[in-house]
Amino acid sequence: AIERTLSIIKPDAVAKNAIGEIIARFEKAGLKVVAAKMLHLSEEKAGGFYAEHKERPFFKDLVGFMTSGPVVVQVLEGEDAIARNRDLMGATNPKDAAPGTIRADFAETIDANAVHGSDSPASAEREVAYFFSADELCPR
Ligand code: CMP
Repeated sequence: AIERTLSIIKPDAVAKNAIGEIIARFEKAGLKVVAAKMLHLSEEKAGGFYAEHKERPFFKDLVGFMTSGPVVVQVLEGEDAIARNRDLMGATNPKDAAPGTIRADFAETIDANAVHGSDSPASAEREVAYFFSADELCPR
């Protein structure tokens, strides 16, 4: 089915000037960007986004990292977009990420892991709405 998923290019990848290379991978895989913006997240905005991880030991570091510099958030649309994006990203820990995936090629650590992608239809719906209003989505 045609799906939408939320993608974040994290501060480490923005700092590496890899925004274009990462978006090119999405486009080459048949995913379309239907919304995009650059943001420097506040603690409140980053903490709310990752609320499900609030009790995890890595939460504070995660929020610190995600507020350390600008990010690019985008909505990707396409056939099986959620799983396709996760395949392109590779495993959360870049040490486990398959060769040729975004995290294998651009990420250094499990915290600075270059990208985020929604992990299910329910989280995609929540995450897209967390960053974008309906009139910011451009169906194409
Ligand atoms: P992301 O897909 O953005 O979702 C939560 C983030 O927490 C994850 O990528 C990692 O960057 C970060 N993180 C840090 N430590 C862990 C861990 N032990 N397990 C899962 N995620 C972690």
